[in-house]
Amino acid sequence: MSPWRVGKTHLLDLLSGWDASEGTAYSALAARIRLLIVDGRIVPGARLPSERDLAAGLAVSRTTVNSAYSALRAEGYLQSKQGSGSIAQIPGRPPELPVARPGDLIDLSRATCTAAPGTHSAAVRALDRLPPRLRTDGYELAGLLELRVKLAERYSQQGLPTTPEQIFVTSGSQSAISLAARTFVAPGDRVVVETPGYPHALNALRAAGGRLLPFRVDADAGWDVDGFDLTVRRSLPTLAFLMPDFHNPTSRSMSVDERRRVVATAEAHGIMLVSDEATADLALDEVDPVAPIAAFAQRPGTVLTIGSASKTVWGGLRVGWIRTSVEHVDRLIAARMSNDLGAAVIDQLVFAELLNDFDPILEYRTNALRESRDALQRALKAHLPSWRMSPTRGGIASWVHIDEPVSSAIAIAARARGLLIGAGPWFGLDGEFEQFIRVPITADPEAIERAVEILAAALGDVHERTHLDTRSLAGAL
Ligand SMILES: Cc1ncc(COP(=O)(O)O)c(C=O)c1O
Repeated sequence: MSPWRVGKTHLLDLLSGWDASEGTAYSALAARIRLLIVDGRIVPGARLPSERDLAAGLAVSRTTVNSAYSALRAEGYLQSKQGSGSIAQIPGRPPELPVARPGDLIDLSRATCTAAPGTHSAAVRALDRLPPRLRTDGYELAGLLELRVKLAERYSQQGLPTTPEQIFVTSGSQSAISLAARTFVAPGDRVVVETPGYPHALNALRAAGGRLLPFRVDADAGWDVDGFDLTVRRSLPTLAFLMPDFHNPTSRSMSVDERRRVVATAEAHGIMLVSDEATADLALDEVDPVAPIAAFAQRPGTVLTIGSASKTVWGGLRVGWIRTSVEHVDRLIAARMSNDLGAAVIDQLVFAELLNDFDPILEYRTNALRESRDALQRALKAHLPSWRMSPTRGGIASWVHIDEPVSSAIAIAARARGLLIGAGPWFGLDGEFEQFIRVPITADPEAIERAVEILAAALGDVHERTHLDTRSLAGAL
C-alpha cells in the first residue's frame, strides 16, 4: 500500500464492521474515517478513494459518501484538491512538546534516567588515568582509540564484525544523528522516517533540508515494510532513519524478516539506513537475541548504526557513537569539524571504564525499567482500564492507546495538574496520533503511578470541558 493513496480495498478493510444502518449513515461513516485519520491509520497527505468507488465498495448511495466527505472537509480532516481528489489532513497544528519548568512537577516529557550505580567510581578511576593524556593535545577527532576498540569488540560479539576504524565517537547520539543528517542529506533530498518516530531526529533531518516521507510502525503489527518498499521505489529517497531496537515511541523490535526486507530494499536502491540503536541494550523480556540490522547488509556502508551511553548509563555522560564503513568515518570526521572537534576525553574515559564490566549496569537498568513498566501496567488497569499499553518488551517508553482522540487535550490538562507529558501528535509527521500518548518508563514506579492518576484526572477535566460523547465515537469504531 502506498502511504500516499488509500486504495478502495484497503479502506474497505479499515472500515470493516461499519454498519450503514447505524444512526445517520453519513455521520457514522465520517466519524469512522476521522478516527482512522487521527490515530494515523490513514496518513495525512494520503488520497482517499473517489466517492463513486467507495460508495460502490460499501454498497451505499453516493450521497452518503458525498455527505461524509463534505462533513470531513468542513471539520478540516479532508482537503479537496482539483485533479487530486480528497486528501486526508489533521486540522490545526500539532501541539508543542511541553518545556520542563523547575519545581516539583513530574516530568514525563523526556524518557531519561538518573545515573547507573558505579558511574561515580568509574569517573574517579578515569581521573586517575587522565595524567598521561594531558601530555597530548586532547583533540580526538574519531574518538579515543581505547573506547573505539571496546565498542568494536561489543559489535563483533553481537554478530557484527567491526574494527575500531569503523567507530566514530560523538558527544551523545543526538549529535550523531544531526551530523549524519548534515553529512548525507542534501537540501531537498527525500528521507524516509518512521511514523510515529523520535521527534528530535525528525527535526534534525528537516534541518538538513530533508523532505520527510512516512514509514508506518504499529505497536502490534510492526513495520509496514511493503509501504516502505513502495515509497522507496516511487520517491527514490537518499536515506531512511530507523529505530529497530527498540523503536521510540512504540518500543517495538524489528523481526529478522523485517530487517532482511528493509535492508534488501535499501541495497537494491542505494539508500543509506541510519539506525538509531540508543536503546538496543534494553531488552526487558527474555527474547532470542537478533543481530543488529547492519549485520544483514552486504555492503559495509549501507547501514550507519548509532549508539549512546545515555540510556544505559547516564545522559550527563555525553558519549554517543557511529559504526559505519571506514570511508564514511572519514567523511564524518571532515564534516564534524565545522561543528566540534571531538567529544570530551574525560567522558570517553569514564564510559570506557564502565564497559570493562558492563553487564551489571545493563542488569540494573533493565530491572528498573521492568519495574516501572509493570507499575504502569498496574496503574492503567486501576485508573484507566480502557487505555491499552503497547506490548513493551524493551526500550524506554510505552505507547499507550487512548480510546478517544484527546491526547493533546489530556497533555494540556495534565500540565495544569503537575505532569509534563508529550501528546501523541508530537511523534507524528502531521499531527496524527491523537489516540495515543507516550508514557516513558524511565521514572520510578511511584512517579509512574502518580502520573497515571493525574492522567485519569486530566481525562475527567477534558470530558467536563468538551462534553465529548465518547460512546458515540467508540460506537463508530
Ligand atoms: C531514540 C533516541 N535516540 C537518541 C537520543 C539522544 O540521546 P543522547 O544524545 O543523550 O545520546 C534519545 C534521547 O532521548 C532517544 O530517545
